Amino acid sequence: MSGRENFGSRAAVIMAMAGSAIGLGNIWRFPFIVGQYGGAAFILVYILCCFLLSLPILFSESVIGRRTHKNTFGAMEALAPRSSWKWLGLLTVVSPIIILSYYSVVGGWSIEYLFKSVTIQFRPDNAEIVTGMFGEFAASRAKVIACLLLFLGMTAGIVFAGVKKGIERFSKITIPVLFVLVLVIAVYSLTLPGAGEGIRYLVRPDFSKLTPDALAAALGQSFFSLSLGVGTMLTYSSYVSKDENLMASGVGTAVSDLMFAIFAGFAIMPAVFASGIAPAAGPGLVFETLPYIFAKMGTGGLVLSAAVAIIFFITILVAALTSSISMMEVGVAYLSEEKGISRTAATAGIFIFAFMVGILCVLRGSVFDFLDKLCSNFLLTLGALLFSLFVGWKMKKEDVKDELTNGGTLHTNVKLFPIIYFLIKYVAPVSIAVIFISGLVG
Ligand code: PHE
Repeated sequence: MSGRENFGSRAAVIMAMAGSAIGLGNIWRFPFIVGQYGGAAFILVYILCCFLLSLPILFSESVIGRRTHKNTFGAMEALAPRSSWKWLGLLTVVSPIIILSYYSVVGGWSIEYLFKSVTIQFRPDNAEIVTGMFGEFAASRAKVIACLLLFLGMTAGIVFAGVKKGIERFSKITIPVLFVLVLVIAVYSLTLPGAGEGIRYLVRPDFSKLTPDALAAALGQSFFSLSLGVGTMLTYSSYVSKDENLMASGVGTAVSDLMFAIFAGFAIMPAVFASGIAPAAGPGLVFETLPYIFAKMGTGGLVLSAAVAIIFFITILVAALTSSISMMEVGVAYLSEEKGISRTAATAGIFIFAFMVGILCVLRGSVFDFLDKLCSNFLLTLGALLFSLFVGWKMKKEDVKDELTNGGTLHTNVKLFPIIYFLIKYVAPVSIAVIFISGLVG
């Protein structure tokens, strides 16, 4: 398709994909569920999930995206014309826009908390009221909506600038910075007195906690964290040039995402335990517990604690942005390529839609929870399952091989292909279906 952009280099592909992957999921869910489901034992299962199930799905999306150089819907139409597979294409246009809507609400919260950190509102003298600040902020709806607007505005600004000048450039600059920032916080956190308990929470293996629930949690988390099943990786792969090594960039992405999640765990949990608070997941952890810890740290020097807080909320904000742009891009690619709408109008349209749904989420917490459950427990898994079925059973094996090995020229990929194909065709769909159905029933 003429006028379509590609990412500029291998590094750019990995940075953009890792940018999509690294986000709130790594920071506020991963550290918590690791502890909840048995520390190192869970990390082991999680790594297996990543490489045996998630990576094949990532490869599947990559194959579809790069083979066609089209948006999710266009790609399905190109590979399986006038078939019901177009519904998968449509589903994966809609689901990332839904995620974008509620994800941006949280992105907005991080803007407010960055502001609170810069203006040193977490101080030892007000530590006791710091946790209450979140409730107060959430109650001022206009403020929350203004932050949502700002976050979505930034997202739209980057997407509007284009695949190369916007998404690629932003991810290339910010992803390395994010790694540095999370490591800075981890080093600091690990030196706090009492950090040992947090380390034990993350690494002490407890195999008795590896229940079927833990398995479902590992799978769901690794899909969400790698942005799978919702067409984002498919769309990003459609901007990958034909001479790029899809397997190498997929592995690079998965490893970066995994490393970031583990670093985030070591940045957060030691500090939480050092302060003697029980760990929680989600908003409680990031917007109540951690600000309380930052406030308490102030006794050792206000500037240092403010600096740590600022670094932390910048990390969250930027990590959320590199993910939200990938969600918006899916819809923008669809609207501009399938409906002939200009990139500007498409970006504006999705911006407005996500803003409206986001407002609903702000006004009704139940809408927020419903959309989050719908996406992370259902749509993501369904999408992932269908992508693996499509590539494993609908596409021709030679075409899949051609795409993953660049026409047989990448020798390591050629050697690995039979294993990868087996994972895509049998292991991934069967395991996902079993875990998915047991989750629905249980
Ligand atoms: N992977 C992102 C995170 O961990 C979330 C995401 C999901 C992004 C789906 C794109 C699509 O926060």
